[in-house]
Amino acid sequence: MQRFRNLRANKRIRNKNAEVFISQKDLILPYFVVDGKNIKKEIPGFTEVYHYSIDALLKDISNILEKGIDKILLFGVIASSFKDKKGSYAFLENNLVYKAIASIKEKFPRLCVISDVCLCGYTTHGHCGLIKNKKILNDETLSILSKIALNYARAGADYVAPSAMMDGQVEAIRAVLEKNGFAKTRIMSYSAKFASNFYGPFRSALSSSPSFLDRKTYQIDFRTINQAVEETGADISEGADIVIIKPAHTYLDVIVKIKQKYPKMKIAGYHVSGEYMMLKAAAETGIIDEKEAVLEVLTSIKRAGADYIITYYAKKAAGFLNEKK
Ligand code: PBG
Repeated sequence: MQRFRNLRANKRIRNKNAEVFISQKDLILPYFVVDGKNIKKEIPGFTEVYHYSIDALLKDISNILEKGIDKILLFGVIASSFKDKKGSYAFLENNLVYKAIASIKEKFPRLCVISDVCLCGYTTHGHCGLIKNKKILNDETLSILSKIALNYARAGADYVAPSAMMDGQVEAIRAVLEKNGFAKTRIMSYSAKFASNFYGPFRSALSSSPSFLDRKTYQIDFRTINQAVEETGADISEGADIVIIKPAHTYLDVIVKIKQKYPKMKIAGYHVSGEYMMLKAAAETGIIDEKEAVLEVLTSIKRAGADYIITYYAKKAAGFLNEKK
């Protein structure tokens, strides 16, 4: 008989034997930025997640820095009157996201700012690419995604994060960045992004639910894992600096497999809005102890092989981690 229980006999021994630790530096906090002044408004159906105007966002960033978080992921949210078929607002120079990045980097130059590059929040149809005859166009979308990425690079983003799931998006963006003198701007690519049922609260934050068709012709079918591994490999060869696996909690096996195949590659697991709200709902109804369960879930994402965890719980988790010390 082996005495495994000796490894768990008390807290000190358990701590000594622990293999996986999460820290504030692993966490990336998503933010939704809107036009206006002094706005911090909770998003309906997305508990403790807010729309912020730039001024309010800057205030909030001071708080997260104090808690030890140093990376954020930005999404722009615009009124439907600014949306069109091409998502033109997204590549407008000096737009809301551009201003947000520039003001954040001016005030907090050491904060790592990652900016989401996609069309879904800017198009009237809510799709991540251009549409013609009810088909989502791949190659025609690439130049638009590159324009958006270049704009964010000019604003000072450390990373651009293409999430449209168009083939060749990393290559196209890398080429445009190089050509325009932004070799230093890195790409955090949503490489393995599944057509998931857990994006609901996020889509209500952006009002980006597709008005017709679904995203299954571009996001990965959840009945496959090999496509996810191969797409990630393609993104790596196209020049991605960090790859995202999304969702994370429901796809831990995908993280494991990709980490095993590409051990040196940095991986971010995206604990998505629906996964977040499931924990919130369970905590609110007393099914789980929020603090303990959240730390367990985030640790499991790291244990699977993620180096970073994108999570709406980042702020709260940072607080929990500070308490634990
Ligand atoms: C699409 C995008 C999505 C999310 C981020 N960017 C998914 C989608 O609407 O298909 C989801 C994030 C979340 O649910 O937390 N560009």
